[in-house]
Amino acid sequence: MEAENWWSSQSFWRKSAIWITAGMAVVLIFLTFDTLAQISAGTKRVPAYSVINNRISYVFDEKRNFQVPVIGQEEPLFGKKLTEEEAEAMVSHGKLTVQAKNCMNCHSILGNGAYYAPDLTKAWLDPWWGSKEIREAQMVAFLMNPQDRLHNALGRKMPNLGITEEEAKATVAFLKWMSSIDTNGFPYNFKPMDQEN
Ligand code: HEC
Repeated sequence: MEAENWWSSQSFWRKSAIWITAGMAVVLIFLTFDTLAQISAGTKRVPAYSVINNRISYVFDEKRNFQVPVIGQEEPLFGKKLTEEEAEAMVSHGKLTVQAKNCMNCHSILGNGAYYAPDLTKAWLDPWWGSKEIREAQMVAFLMNPQDRLHNALGRKMPNLGITEEEAKATVAFLKWMSSIDTNGFPYNFKPMDQEN
């Protein structure tokens, strides 16, 4: 009887399967920690929640070939400077509102969700809000009574979701914080509101 080739033996394939599975498990664990480090607030790409105390603008980065966020001078949301803890509580309340009202049923956030309504990642910088002086009030008014307005070319109106003023303000905080995230240029080609850096 001919000797069996090493590469066709059952034990070779069994050992290979075990080693590859174990190796990939290690890679997966490493990637999980690496991703967590990159998506946590207070890291290079995802600013700490107190970023809502500052102006957020965008500049074109020649090297990366897309717009990148710039955290500018102090410009507290609703005119009130918050501590890190207060800012985190406000942004979390906004995030809970977004989850409770299921905004992603119509909108996408950081690219996830539905495509019925505009992506909200940079909604804070939408020129439609007018100027930066009236934006905050405009956003709160819109979130509380969106059924009255039609502000883009979609021809669709957002329904009234029964959002309270406190929830609307917290949602604006969440949207402002989210607009400061470096999303590698997503959404592509968006036009930020006119404001100095
Ligand atoms: C039933 C679908 C639906 C749901 C649910 C919904 N929206 Fe909307 N939203 C829309 C539509 C449609 C528009 C576009 C309205 C327009 O152009 O007048 C819109 C527009 C917006 C805008 C303006 C976007 C911009 O870029 O200026 C914001 C901000 C917004 N929605 C926030 C939210 C938030 C926050 C929630 C959850 C609390 C939410 N929406 C839930 C349909 C929805």
